[in-house]
Amino acid sequence: DVGSSSNIRFHDGMVSTEAKEALLGQRGCVLWFTGLSGSGKSTVACTLEHALHGLGRATTLLDGDNVRHGLNKNLGFSPADREENIRRIGEVSKLFADAGLITLVSFISPYRVDRERARSLLPAGKFIEVFMKVPIEICEQRDPKGLYKKARAGQIKGFTGIDDPYEEPESAECVLECYDPSGKQRSAQDLAKQLLDFLGGNGYLE
Ligand code: PPS
Repeated sequence: DVGSSSNIRFHDGMVSTEAKEALLGQRGCVLWFTGLSGSGKSTVACTLEHALHGLGRATTLLDGDNVRHGLNKNLGFSPADREENIRRIGEVSKLFADAGLITLVSFISPYRVDRERARSLLPAGKFIEVFMKVPIEICEQRDPKGLYKKARAGQIKGFTGIDDPYEEPESAECVLECYDPSGKQRSAQDLAKQLLDFLGGNGYLE
């Protein structure tokens, strides 16, 4: 029975991550952006993805646009739903990293324990936490979607940083100081460059 024996051979061990990485000529990893709403996570992640793509790297980007409208469209913003949101994103990003992709992930991911669980799914060194360090006062001033205003007015309950916690990373691999000491905002290009330098300097782009 050719069919069943070829099936057995076909399932005889998966193609390893190492073999997939060798084919792509890169190591898979997860760049996990975390930060308040309005801190610029998605902008910097998107800028970095373009830069990596331009360098011939195979990447993917997970963010609210492609996850909260699809895979996680049944989830809201209660603590349990945020936990489940981040749990699924952690599992999916592991699948992408195991396929050899440089996987950029951009969610508030406000709870430390959920980020640590995502980290624990990957081998050491493959999870790079990127903290978008922006004071909440500035995010609130910017308020690109008008959500802080609504949260202050009580029209949104459980808004991160207002009446739901944001737990800052304690040992992120990369801290992006989004404002320089004089209070001037650093550009997305500049912040993406900092990350590229980190990746290059730590052997991720060899
Ligand atoms: S989380 O906490 O990681 O599950 O959140 P995330 O999936 O990144 O979604 C955050 C975006 O959803 C909008 N939004 C809220 N944010 C925080 N708290 C509450 N209650 C809330 N309700 C809606 C908000 O626009 C976030 O967008 P970003 O891009 O982060 O500004």
